[in-house]
Amino acid sequence: MERPKSLVAGNWKMNGLEASLAELDATIAGAGGASCEVAVCPPATLLTRAVARAAGSDVAIGGQDCHAATNGAHTGDLAAEMITDTGASVVIVGHSERRTDHGETDAEVRAKAEAGWRAGLTVILCIGETEAERRAGATEDVLDRQLAGSVPDGATAANLVIAYEPVWAIGTGLTPSEDDIVAAHAHIKRRLRERFADGAEGVRVLYGGSVKPGNAETILALDGVNGALVGGASLKASDFLAIVAAAP
Ligand code: PGA
Repeated sequence: MERPKSLVAGNWKMNGLEASLAELDATIAGAGGASCEVAVCPPATLLTRAVARAAGSDVAIGGQDCHAATNGAHTGDLAAEMITDTGASVVIVGHSERRTDHGETDAEVRAKAEAGWRAGLTVILCIGETEAERRAGATEDVLDRQLAGSVPDGATAANLVIAYEPVWAIGTGLTPSEDDIVAAHAHIKRRLRERFADGAEGVRVLYGGSVKPGNAETILALDGVNGALVGGASLKASDFLAIVAAAP
């Protein structure tokens, strides 16, 4: 099948104040006409302002998490509908930092992904093994468990993007070997095909974990890699745009 259009998504995590919108402006200006799709997921406090800046541009804006419920007594949480209400079109769910910091289970991640769909958002769902799991040779088992437990029924190329993010590669400067990335992506795609048949044909699988301008071209060209989820290097427009430019 034809290679789907790549997606390069920036995850600002808990970084970004009003002044950081200048980096977003530069990203928007530089991403015009990019050969890939581009998304930026700023902190929730900047969502409305980011959407206003990105209006009419090629850059989609997304949230970093959502609650499974539509509303209610959940202090500090955001419903997926609230993210849609800002004008954003994407939401990240199941990031390993949320799985670790907030003890999110696969079942919770699945409910969040369903909430994202309910609210009309494209869901970027993160999976990936820890260093200990990789050393134990359990990578594929972990991916299987996370895919089975956190991807809801009804996944399509339009509503779901998977981000393969080895936990040990996030923010560390370490990346898996090219062969290991290709193998993990092939495994994920095989499992999606088994479960969703043709329905999930074209679901993009992004690589995430220490993607930088210096390694982006190599990683983004690998078989089965349909883009990148970028943390640290998405905070500076010049770095992020170099990654965007490296996408096939
Ligand atoms: P990193 O983060 O690019 O800073 O390693 C990636 C991510 O957590 O999405």
